[in-house]
Amino acid sequence: MQPTWSAVDDYLINELHAPDPILDHAIANCQAAGLPEIQVSETLGKFLHLLARIHHAQRILEIGTLGSYSTIWLARALPPEGALITIELDPAHAEVARANLDSADVSDRVDLRLGAALDILPQIESEGASAFDFIFIDADKPSNVAYLEWAVKLSRSGSVIVLDNIVRDGAIIDTDSADEKVQGSRAALEWLGNHPQIESTAIQTVGAKGYDGFAIAVVK
Ligand code: SAH
Ligand code: DHB
Ligand code: MG
Repeated sequence: MQPTWSAVDDYLINELHAPDPILDHAIANCQAAGLPEIQVSETLGKFLHLLARIHHAQRILEIGTLGSYSTIWLARALPPEGALITIELDPAHAEVARANLDSADVSDRVDLRLGAALDILPQIESEGASAFDFIFIDADKPSNVAYLEWAVKLSRSGSVIVLDNIVRDGAIIDTDSADEKVQGSRAALEWLGNHPQIESTAIQTVGAKGYDGFAIAVVK
C-alpha cells in the first residue's frame, strides 16, 4: 500500500499546500548532512502548524529538533511576540537545524537548546518560564513517560500535548516487543490513559512516511 499512500499524499499536498521552497531547502539540507529521514511528513507538519494556530499558541515546546523541519512549521504558527523552545541532543543535528531556522527567518522566535532533554527541561523550569500552550514530544521514545511528566509540569489547564510515532507499523500492539521504542511508546500511552489530569486520544496515520500515528492530549 505504500505507493498508494505516497501518491495520495502527493495529491493532497498538490491540492492543499502552497509550494514552499524554504521547507524544501530545509529537507535538502538535512539530506545533504546525512540526517536520518525521520522528520514529520509534510501533511503532519502542516497539521501541527494548523493545530497550534487554532489553539492560539504563544509558547511552544518541542522535544527533538532534528533539522528543525517540524520546528519551522510550528514557529510559523506563532504570533510575532510568540516563542518556541526546541531541544536537541545531537550537535550535528542542531547545526543543520540552526541553518534551517535562519533560512526560514524564524530564528527570532526560536530558542534551540543543545543537550539531553532531561537535563534541559529542569533548566527551563528553574528559569521560571511561563507555561507552554503547546508541546510536541518527538525525541528518544524510551524517555516518553519522563517527557510527558515534564510536559504536564510545564503546562497550564488547556495546554495541548502531541506525542509522535505511537503506532510504528502496528508494532505498538505487540505486548512482548523487544523494541525499546515500542515499549517506551506503550508506557507513554498507558500513562496518558491513567493520568487524572489528562484527556487524550490517538490517531493512526498513513502517507509518504509510512504507517504510524500520534497521540493528542489536553491538560485539564
Ligand atoms: N521533530 C523532528 C524530528 C525529531 S527526530 C521533525 O519532525 O522534524 C528525533 C530527534 O530527537 C533526533 O534529532 C535526536 O537526536 C533527538 N534526541 C534523541 N534523544 C534525545 C534526548 N535525550 N534529548 C533531546 N533530543 C534527543
Ligand atoms: C523515529 C523517531 C521519530 O521521531 C520518527 O518520526 C520516526 C522514527 C525513530 O527513532 O525510529
Ligand atoms: Mg517523530
